[in-house]
Amino acid sequence: MTILVTGGAGYIGSWVTKLLLNSGYQVVVLDNLSHGYKENVDPRAKFIVGDISDSKKTKEALKGVDAVIHMAGLIVVPESVKDPVKYTQNNVLGTVSLLESMKEAGVKKIIFSSSACVYGTPDKLPIAEDAPLHPDNPYGATKAAIEAFLQAFHANFSFDVTILRYFNPYGPGKLAPPITHAIPNFITATLAKKPIPLYWKGEQIRDFIYIEDLAQAHVDVLSLSGFNVFNLGMEKGVKVKDVVEMIFDIVGYKVPIDNLGKRPGDVSANYASSEKLKKAVGWRAKVYLKECLRRTIKYYSSSFSQLQSTT
Ligand SMILES: NC(=O)c1ccc[n+]([C@@H]2O[C@H](COP(=O)([O-])OP(=O)(O)OC[C@H]3O[C@@H](n4cnc5c(N)ncnc54)[C@H](O)[C@@H]3O)[C@@H](O)[C@H]2O)c1
Repeated sequence: MTILVTGGAGYIGSWVTKLLLNSGYQVVVLDNLSHGYKENVDPRAKFIVGDISDSKKTKEALKGVDAVIHMAGLIVVPESVKDPVKYTQNNVLGTVSLLESMKEAGVKKIIFSSSACVYGTPDKLPIAEDAPLHPDNPYGATKAAIEAFLQAFHANFSFDVTILRYFNPYGPGKLAPPITHAIPNFITATLAKKPIPLYWKGEQIRDFIYIEDLAQAHVDVLSLSGFNVFNLGMEKGVKVKDVVEMIFDIVGYKVPIDNLGKRPGDVSANYASSEKLKKAVGWRAKVYLKECLRRTIKYYSSSFSQLQSTT
């Protein structure tokens, strides 16, 4: 079976590509390298540099493909607030163009990287998939809009659709700047012995999911058909300040906290129920927070020492 991974040169897409190849799938990666890196792409995959809205390139990439894992997209929330048109063009119109190419190529199975951002501020916790969607920012709105188009392509053209709503992925892997992810920022500040920037004194509660567990879910849902929506989280809310303490505990020293105060628009708490995914495909997160943090610190320590030796 051959899978097209859009955005496969990115942080999460490169992990998904590697796990697919390890499980015996053939993989084609399509990425415009706007935020990805050629070296992120596993050499066993066929790599096509191109944009999801370029129908010539997508048709080339879709040759012989059985299913698409669609991860290409712009992901920086503050940038989406400044430039919602750019986000709508790239993420929403780009995806509709990709769906049209898929329809023409007769490829009708898609797994889509959505986000907990579609829920905005949740009415209750843990968040289940039937919670109302009210995104708080344009990035989340692009995810909700894409989900609506996927529903329409399922209803009108019998596409098999699986939507995965990620909570807070983290773990080893090369991220494109600006790095807005909490854990990489905490770890890099700690390793550089600089103050850790922290909003809300770290009282926010988040659901952090290790990247390899998250990536594995994409392989697990490939067997599904119909229209499916799943949350992808650890089902455990953790205070951000407790993550910082765990990092200090692992490295064996502390750095000061740079208290950034309150950040408007931040959700005070969110964590998932992933029960539905567990029941559907037997997916289970295998690695727990402290061990995942250890692996992530190890990754950043080696990149950090490489950086030190080249400067
Ligand atoms: N990282 C997170 O915290 C997180 C959380 C929830 C959802 N997601 C979703 O997961 C997916 C992957 O995220 P990531 O963290 O790996 O980001 P990333 O920026 O590392 O990867 C995205 C990739 O998509 C490519 N891309 C962007 N627009 C494209 C286009 N028009 N055509 C072709 N390629 C294009 C980029 O070059 C990049 O390689 C995204 O859809 C993102 O919205 C990420």
